[in-house]
Amino acid sequence: MIKNEFYTLRGGNKINKVGLGTWQSSNEDAYTSVKSALEVGYRHIDTAFAYENEEGVGKALKDSGIDRKELYVCTKLPSHIKDVEGTKKHCEMSLKSLGLDYLDLYLIHAPWPWSDVGTDCREGNIEAWKAMIELKKQGKIKSIGVSNFSIDDIENLITATGEIPEVNQIRFFVGNTQEKLFEYCKSKNILIEAYSPMATGAVLGRSEISVLAEKYGVSPAQICIRYCLQRGTLPLPKSVNADRIKQNIELDFVISDGDMAYLNAFDGSEFKKPYRS
Ligand code: A2P
Repeated sequence: MIKNEFYTLRGGNKINKVGLGTWQSSNEDAYTSVKSALEVGYRHIDTAFAYENEEGVGKALKDSGIDRKELYVCTKLPSHIKDVEGTKKHCEMSLKSLGLDYLDLYLIHAPWPWSDVGTDCREGNIEAWKAMIELKKQGKIKSIGVSNFSIDDIENLITATGEIPEVNQIRFFVGNTQEKLFEYCKSKNILIEAYSPMATGAVLGRSEISVLAEKYGVSPAQICIRYCLQRGTLPLPKSVNADRIKQNIELDFVISDGDMAYLNAFDGSEFKKPYRS
């Protein structure tokens, strides 16, 4: 069952194949959605300092009573922090908010501050990356990666440090698969995590998706999430609704090769924007 399946990251650690996304969830919503998710078998939770809900996530993890070793927690360095000391400080702050003594995965949230998308932060990214490598050596983080990084942004880190990110978390869904970046990450054995696997809900209303949902006897959301899995990416569906949270990890069906080809050709141009901000 998908609930019990893992990818293996290039560094050797295992990561649950589906995670709960918590972007745009308040602390209260994060608490209830993480609680619901853990009850129905999720073990992987994705948050970020910038979501301002790490306390809610942490409280739900603690209240669940589930063994820490069974949980998989990812959070992210704020996009404007681009120096060694700031990175270490924010890692400590996230650990404290989450009530944890290590993170399973820590990501640089974006190659530039959200307030200044596209600015050149090459030097700053290298500094943050060096700090993350050190934090990993210290055992505070098990695996390290990036989010919203382009091929150039990743190459910049590799050239400077020799350390290849284990994960790149990007906006990935039917019709928006960023093929060049996808192929590059595959060639480097960098796992792609798919955020907004339903285009924040926008793609769910498309008739092409509904037709397939009917054919497989599942919901449009399940088609979208299963599609990400069959592309070898790790979907992070977000929901604050207990029924939808449950449904979003019930993914033990197979989309045929023909239907995958149909979905690969899906025109998602109306939903395309490289980032979610
Ligand atoms: P809600 O949180 O009220 O369930 P994405 O993961 O692509 O960012 O999409 C998240 C959006 O899709 C949210 O608005 C969420 O609303 C909605 N959503 C999540 N799961 C489902 C589902 N199974 N069916 C319909 N809408 C869903």
